[in-house]
Amino acid sequence: MSSAYQPSYTTYQPQHQSRRRYYESRVKESLTSRFAKCLCSFFLTLLLIVGVIIFVLWLSLRPHRPHFHLSSFTAPGLVQSTGPVNSALSFNITDRNPNGKIGIYYDSIYASIFYSDKEMGSGPVLFPFYQPPKNTTVILGTLTATGPTTTDSAWDQFSADVAAGQVKLIIKLTSVIRFKVKLWDTHQHRMHVECDFTVGKDGNILSQYADERCTLYF
Ligand SMILES: *[C@@H]1O[C@H](CO)[C@@H](O)[C@H](O)[C@H]1NC(C)=O
Ligand SMILES: *[C@@H]1O[C@H](CO)[C@@H](O)[C@H](O)[C@H]1NC(C)=O
Repeated sequence: MSSAYQPSYTTYQPQHQSRRRYYESRVKESLTSRFAKCLCSFFLTLLLIVGVIIFVLWLSLRPHRPHFHLSSFTAPGLVQSTGPVNSALSFNITDRNPNGKIGIYYDSIYASIFYSDKEMGSGPVLFPFYQPPKNTTVILGTLTATGPTTTDSAWDQFSADVAAGQVKLIIKLTSVIRFKVKLWDTHQHRMHVECDFTVGKDGNILSQYADERCTLYF
């Protein structure tokens, strides 16, 4: 207090009280804020631990997609000069479930074979089935080729490719799959598999394309 300042008793008292109240509230405030900080860091730690647990669970239970490999393909009728009409297109695709604990439910698998963007044949190749963990299922398909024929626009290129001994083909598989994790069934995924390969003059797959990994789209 400066000597120049002479507060009256009546004004000094409330001022003193209000200052005390002010310090008291400051202490209360710092106590509550310390408590809030404590609670906050407790919940943050809890959240972090729960997050790590969920992440580890997700890593160990996360379903991996099945792997498809084109093992063999043969189309003996491909060499005919009038086109592969009513020729059998046979293939062997292996379907591996790489998951150790997760099974896969498949709807029927439907296959189509394409030369360029011309569909040569299509049809169902497998009934609905359940694939256990770490299982390899062999998909054997035999479709009937209905083209390309001499009247198709793709014919000239097709017969030239046959003569050259390199015909690029594509097998597409479609299905709907569902993963079965021990604790719960996951939702459905529409599945598209594409195997691109080349066959030779004899209608058999060229050796460098055998056992190629097929592409999988969900
Ligand atoms: C299909 O290919 C797999 C893997 O190469 C083979 O083990 C299996 O015997 C083949 N099946 C047929 C019928 O060709
Ligand atoms: C894969 O599963 C199928 C169907 O359950 C079964 O028939 C086949 O023997 C299994 N293959 C292997 C290699 O375990």
